[in-house]
Amino acid sequence: MKTYLVTGCAGFIGSNLVDYLLKRNCKIIGLDNLSTGKKFFLKDALKNKNFKFYKIDLLKNHIDKYFKNVDRVYHFAANADVRFGLKHRKKDINQNIIVTYRILETIKKNKINELIFASTGSIYGEATQIPTKENTSFPIQTSLYGASKVSAEAIISAYSEAYNLKSYIFRFVSILGDRYTHGHVYDFIKKLKKNKNVINILGDGNQKKSYLHVADCIQAIDLAVRKFNKKVNIINLGTQECLTVKESVKIICKILKLKPKMQYSGGKRGWIGDNPYIYLDTYKIRSTGWEPRYNIKESIKKTVKYLLKNKWLLKIKN
Ligand SMILES: NC(=O)c1ccc[n+]([C@@H]2O[C@H](COP(=O)([O-])OP(=O)(O)OC[C@H]3O[C@@H](n4cnc5c(N)ncnc54)[C@H](O)[C@@H]3O)[C@@H](O)[C@H]2O)c1
Repeated sequence: MKTYLVTGCAGFIGSNLVDYLLKRNCKIIGLDNLSTGKKFFLKDALKNKNFKFYKIDLLKNHIDKYFKNVDRVYHFAANADVRFGLKHRKKDINQNIIVTYRILETIKKNKINELIFASTGSIYGEATQIPTKENTSFPIQTSLYGASKVSAEAIISAYSEAYNLKSYIFRFVSILGDRYTHGHVYDFIKKLKKNKNVINILGDGNQKKSYLHVADCIQAIDLAVRKFNKKVNIINLGTQECLTVKESVKIICKILKLKPKMQYSGGKRGWIGDNPYIYLDTYKIRSTGWEPRYNIKESIKKTVKYLLKNKWLLKIKN
């Protein structure tokens, strides 16, 4: 039986990944400091004898002992928040670059041969090629989050070149689904709970974004790791659709049966570093036969329903 280590195992995507992997006959070591992750998301996993959870901080604690006899590392821990990068600049550097470096050193020391890394479509900045391919000309960074993920990707590639490490770098669009705790759907529901008559939208609402359901994301990762076999594998993950923020708000309001007045902060971008158009070319992942099960509208609906069922999540101070 293989042993996989998942960092960020109590987070939105990490906890869904843990549940998925546990159904596939393997042992999982899960590491998380619960800074944004929730132990509640691991409630099923914790009942499984093949899952071991350790509350540790990957930036500060000794991590070597958890990496013994591990076959593959899924590195999903990060500061996953794009919007507030400039408010706490050190966070992206520490959590996304230094932690990745620490993971790589520990992987090297323990002679682990496979690393799966959660990167982001944000690394394309304001892409000039839309849909954006994995090999697009090297982008100028617009957010500290994107910059920190590009740095992490670069360091991972260099370790792969130097040591016997196969790496898989997945650049996701925004992910939706069960256990979603941050992002535009979350923010809008929270705002509407406070005031159902008016909704403030950042930017002009015409920002176009693509989204993917977490179950589709994880299935794509699993398939890609089995199909691609280069030293460094870089793969975009997304749907072949995008939606404006305005359209997205309308879907959310319809589910909530609300008709608020829409107010816009104005400008093409919601904040410094917001990319007004994110739409990734997903030919590479689709060449494996993978297709998302959920379209964006269905993913938004499922996410809203999940949050309404788990209202306590809306009370978290992000
Ligand atoms: N959610 C998205 O739309 C999205 C899109 C693109 C990429 N990603 C990437 O996917 C990964 C998972 O994102 P998510 O949405 O599940 O975010 P999340 O915040 O829910 O999960 C991140 C997890 O990492 C943990 N963590 C953070 N710093 C840590 C540290 N120093 N030590 C131990 N644990 C730590 C947090 O407690 C949390 O459980 C991240 O790398 C993120 O950058 C997410």
